[in-house]
Amino acid sequence: MVTCIIGLISCGSIPVAFAQNSIQNQQATKTAIVDKALLDKILDKNRQSFNEGKVADYIPELGKANASSIALSVVNSDGTIVSIGDVQQRFTIQSISKIVSLMIAVLENGEQVVFNNMGYYGTDKPFNHFANLETSGKPFNPMMNAGAILTTSLIKGTGEEPFLKIRNMIRFITNNEKIDYNKSVYNSERETGNRNRGMFYLMRNNGLIDGEGEDKLNNYFKQCSIEITAEDLAKIGFFFANHCVRYDGNKQYNNPSLSQLVQSQMLIAGMYEFSGEYARTVGLPSKSGVGGGIAVSVPNKMGIGAYSPALDQHGNSVAAYRMILDLVKEKSLSLFY
Ligand code: DON
Repeated sequence: MVTCIIGLISCGSIPVAFAQNSIQNQQATKTAIVDKALLDKILDKNRQSFNEGKVADYIPELGKANASSIALSVVNSDGTIVSIGDVQQRFTIQSISKIVSLMIAVLENGEQVVFNNMGYYGTDKPFNHFANLETSGKPFNPMMNAGAILTTSLIKGTGEEPFLKIRNMIRFITNNEKIDYNKSVYNSERETGNRNRGMFYLMRNNGLIDGEGEDKLNNYFKQCSIEITAEDLAKIGFFFANHCVRYDGNKQYNNPSLSQLVQSQMLIAGMYEFSGEYARTVGLPSKSGVGGGIAVSVPNKMGIGAYSPALDQHGNSVAAYRMILDLVKEKSLSLFY
């Protein structure tokens, strides 16, 4: 039953302004702080979901992951961190690195230069599709492999310098100087990544990538091979959710326009051809990787990192998706709530 508020003309129906305030208050209370008990409940519920997915093995070294590993981490809006499950388990960041390389390429070249070379488009295509290289010559967006390889090639420097910038930025965002790439995974990617190599040479042919040799492609393989934990992913999610301010308040890269750009790409293309359905169900900027991680940004609030290596047909982690979905429902986190 609606309570009448003294002084209001309308009684029996809620005046719009008050109704909105009341919804916002409910939302604020629900999203306040995530605690360990809630994460425990969510992780337990989804622990067996890995049975419905398959660990990626098109990069042979990835196939060695323990399918039943699972972890969930949240950086709350006050910077406090809650992590459960296999929190020490390191895995490769893979495509989640693309949001960091996009950040660096835009900081160095400006948004216009980067997006003169590729589109802002979403996609109904898988992450390793050649579109749009055979027609306009330009990749759809910086989240699919072609656009990501091009983005990394736009980062200035010779040899592995562009990769080192990406690694160092991930070290900064996570405040973890130990972060580095896994050499076995890197070699495995390089030896078997002929589809990526094909895109690289097509873009060179189209005049989008200059230079000689494969250093620029190798930097992409290296960035994908960087090892992180679910907690590192939550910190990355938090960083882009909060104007590129670090979870501990460090404002060195504070840049609302940049975080807006990165989150917009995460929202429309971060989960590849599943992005539309994901926007309907989760409704938050997110980026997946074939290593089994998903990083989520809850704009102006928190970061979520989830990990489980068994993937669905789109290359997104089955259990990580389900854990994120449960957390989003419990805390009413969707942008469209
Ligand atoms: O280039 C590749 O195929 C991998 N290094 C990264 C792909 C990836 O993570 C796609 N995301 N779900």
